[in-house]
Amino acid sequence: MTVLLGTRELDQLRALVERRMGLVFHPHQLPMLIDAAQDTARHFRYADAQQLQNALSGLPLGAPEMDYLISRITVGESFFFRDGPQMDFLRREFLPTLIRRRRRQGKRTLRVWSAAAAAGQELYSVAMLLRELLPDVDEWNLHLLGTDINAESLRAAVEGSFSEWSMRAVDASQRDRHFLPHGGGGARVRPELQRMARFSILNLAGEDFPSMLADLHSFDLILCRNVFIYFDQQRVHAILSRIVRCLAPSGVLMLGASDVVAVNIEGLETLQRDGMCYYHLLDRSGASDLAPLVEMPASAAGRGPRGAEQASEARRLADARSDMAAQISGLADKHCWQDVVSMAERAALRGLRDDAPTCRHIAAAFGNLGRHEEALDWCEQGLVHDPTSAEAHFLHALLQVEAGKDGAALEAFRRTLFLAPGMLEAHHQLGLLQLRVGNRDKGLRSLRNALQLARRQAQEGTGEKRSDAARMLAVIENDLVIHDQEEKPRQP
Ligand SMILES: C[S@@+](CC[C@H](N)C(=O)[O-])C[C@H]1O[C@@H](n2cnc3c(N)ncnc32)[C@H](O)[C@@H]1O
Repeated sequence: MTVLLGTRELDQLRALVERRMGLVFHPHQLPMLIDAAQDTARHFRYADAQQLQNALSGLPLGAPEMDYLISRITVGESFFFRDGPQMDFLRREFLPTLIRRRRRQGKRTLRVWSAAAAAGQELYSVAMLLRELLPDVDEWNLHLLGTDINAESLRAAVEGSFSEWSMRAVDASQRDRHFLPHGGGGARVRPELQRMARFSILNLAGEDFPSMLADLHSFDLILCRNVFIYFDQQRVHAILSRIVRCLAPSGVLMLGASDVVAVNIEGLETLQRDGMCYYHLLDRSGASDLAPLVEMPASAAGRGPRGAEQASEARRLADARSDMAAQISGLADKHCWQDVVSMAERAALRGLRDDAPTCRHIAAAFGNLGRHEEALDWCEQGLVHDPTSAEAHFLHALLQVEAGKDGAALEAFRRTLFLAPGMLEAHHQLGLLQLRVGNRDKGLRSLRNALQLARRQAQEGTGEKRSDAARMLAVIENDLVIHDQEEKPRQP
């Protein structure tokens, strides 16, 4: 059966793909889009193009029809150690310097994000460099995350088997060290390498990052290569601005050689050398030009008046604190993390350390800026004042994951779910952690719990809660498809 696409349906499809995924189809690329649409309509037995169109416009990314279409319209070409000059720079300069700095600071943590990771070749290449540079690799807390919009590619990434074509720039000694032979030709990454990398679905054209929840924040290195050619300049700028907000102070962003884009973002410095260029986020962490939004009364600085004046001074102090707590809460709602931290650092906050929600907001702000020790300190302080806050236990769990304390994180997730058994994000994150530490059955069980909750909330919720649940549903369905080879995509 051939599904015919008229000019109108094709225009609609082209607009939908651009709106939802950011992908722009130029006239000479339209045959690819037409083939992909016809193939999708056939596969899901839609009678005509209009039916397919109607279905696609109501479906979230992650629905099987969407995944199917995406896998046919995205170009997932990638190979290990693509772009020699960039890889050499990482191997010889950037990673050794970063590692030295971290050792000096006594922090064995590194965070790397391969955005548009395809089947993981780029992220696994960085993982190999790190194994070669870190004799004590097992003592490090390495967060290597690969994301892509194409669920089929991510499944292949988790599987870890690659064709000879993908391995064309891997030399013999790297092959020996990091790969195992594979029955059908090509090779498979060794399990220790596989365990270092994590993959999850993310649409760069969506709005879901930076996000502490999705672990998309404070990266030391972001590789976002050879994807911007598919977007228009306005979208590229919007995506780049969000990506840059996911960099840690002094973090580095690398684009692909084909990504000819105007990177004109405040605070980002362009550096060029040896036939390649990269972008460096200036470290502004201690320096804030923000004035405190509320000046604390003089007594807060230790000059308290005596006698009758004390009562009114105490009242003023309490008012100022609650004013500041309200401002912090408002800034946190808007994700203005640097402003929250600036307030926390510049004001006399002794009183605020007694207020559990404020502690949680400040902890989230530090966490989102990659300052995990301060985040943990504030989070634990908040828990002292309100040990029954499921949100605080959840944040505690996420921070323990960051700190590489998997056992403590599992415990904190359990506490969260004891207090809030319906917290879908906690089931989801617990599932991902269980999978990462090798508890496959428990991990899949938690993901299925999350799936059920997301389905229910997407049907019964209202407003923002409903759209959040629909988005989570798509993410969880994809996680299940990526991690559970027996899981079948939903049929129409
Ligand atoms: C040519 S590959 C680049 C792979 C790798 N970064 C490299 O340079 O070798 C482009 C990747 O971008 C992904 N992609 C396209 N649109 C995307 C979007 N809106 N969000 C996330 N990934 C996207 C595709 O699925 C594909 O895997």
